[in-house]
Amino acid sequence: MLPCQLNIAVDGPAGAGKSSVARAVADALGLTYLDTGAMYRAVTWKALQSGYDIHDAETMGALAAGTRFEWRQEQTGLTLLVDGDLLHEGIRSESVTANVSLVASYETVRSVLRDRQRKLCTSRGVIMDGRDIGTVVMPGADLKVFLTANLLERAKRRLRELGGSDEELSGLMRSIAERDDKDSSREHSPLRPAPDAVIIDTTELNLQQVVELILRHANAVCAMEQEE
Ligand code: CDP
Repeated sequence: MLPCQLNIAVDGPAGAGKSSVARAVADALGLTYLDTGAMYRAVTWKALQSGYDIHDAETMGALAAGTRFEWRQEQTGLTLLVDGDLLHEGIRSESVTANVSLVASYETVRSVLRDRQRKLCTSRGVIMDGRDIGTVVMPGADLKVFLTANLLERAKRRLRELGGSDEELSGLMRSIAERDDKDSSREHSPLRPAPDAVIIDTTELNLQQVVELILRHANAVCAMEQEE
């Protein structure tokens, strides 16, 4: 483990491998991992379950504000509890995936979730993945990583994750491209690399190679901080 505790931001488009990479880096460096996308998904899931109007920014902001997010430290890492319950697998469902970018586009929702996320980085040693971590949530992070990969490769990875068949590939490419477009073109905290982010194209790299690259950058940052 490194002798210094870093805060690391990992951003990038859908299917770039952010959560697998962030989890592995957290394990290697003894950091606390937080998947911020799960929070946006949880609010979207609640709205769809209870029939809230997801087209109304004020309603969605109130729903986010009324949602209790807690983190329980377990041996395997930090577990997110929403309103006292473990995350429901429904947050990864197609309907949530299709609607989450709309819900995440509202500043009323983002301001609530951003505050909760920032409370976690008051102590050092946190790695978060999302869309706006390096630009908005943790602009002072010691290391910012922006993961990309071409659309075909990202769709293939998602297909493997979902255990789908090859015929689903083109539909998946379309829905990923659509979500990326919504996330990148929204007014508030759009998906984009921070000016000082390390950009890693993972198209030709496996998980281990990406993790090793990030660990090398983390080591370099630690060495620099110790010299100062
Ligand atoms: O894992 P995947 O790439 O499918 O997405 P996710 O990280 O679970 O995030 C789901 C959605 O939440 C994204 O498409 C964004 O619309 C939103 N999100 C965001 O706006 N800001 C974040 N920091 C994290 C997620």
